[in-house]
Amino acid sequence: RRARLRLRRPLGVFFGLLRLTEALMEPRVCEATRTVRGMSVTDGAGVRLTRIIGSPRLDQIDPFVLLDQFRSDNPRDYMAGFPDHPHRGIETITYMVEGRFRHRDSRGGGGLIQPGDVQWMTAGRGIVHSEMPEMGGKGEEKLWGYQLWLNLAARDKMVEPRYQGLAARDIPSVRQDGVRVVVISGSYA
Ligand code: FE2
Repeated sequence: RRARLRLRRPLGVFFGLLRLTEALMEPRVCEATRTVRGMSVTDGAGVRLTRIIGSPRLDQIDPFVLLDQFRSDNPRDYMAGFPDHPHRGIETITYMVEGRFRHRDSRGGGGLIQPGDVQWMTAGRGIVHSEMPEMGGKGEEKLWGYQLWLNLAARDKMVEPRYQGLAARDIPSVRQDGVRVVVISGSYA
């Protein structure tokens, strides 16, 4: 199963409980074989996160290096943010449900990620960036989002860094059986 997963491109993120499924790639549904609970961790300058992939409970599922959920209505859990830090050889894919994050990187890229937006950053040969919440005032304390780290194939490890901001209005979604699937990569049949 791991060998097959390694060949595939990003599948998608299922919120809450994690299920890796091939449903986004093929018109059939695979059964979940395992349910994994995320672990509470602190990262960045002191942001409380739930780590779903990349914890001792769920490791070694290349190309998925890490999947974090940040969800809190207490600004003290997230306002410290993620000041300048480096990435290399991976892509980070950020999806916001509520709240806003401002990204800035060492190549002049960046932007504001708002609810429903995706930021797809290819670190390639190396990039330094910061990710800071841009909310937390009265009435807008809720932050909810996800970040997936995707390993790059060996041949792509040293590509030029690249930043793609996808606005919510440009991202297709499908409603089916009471579920809304947001297709941030690939196709859904
Ligand atoms: Fe980062």
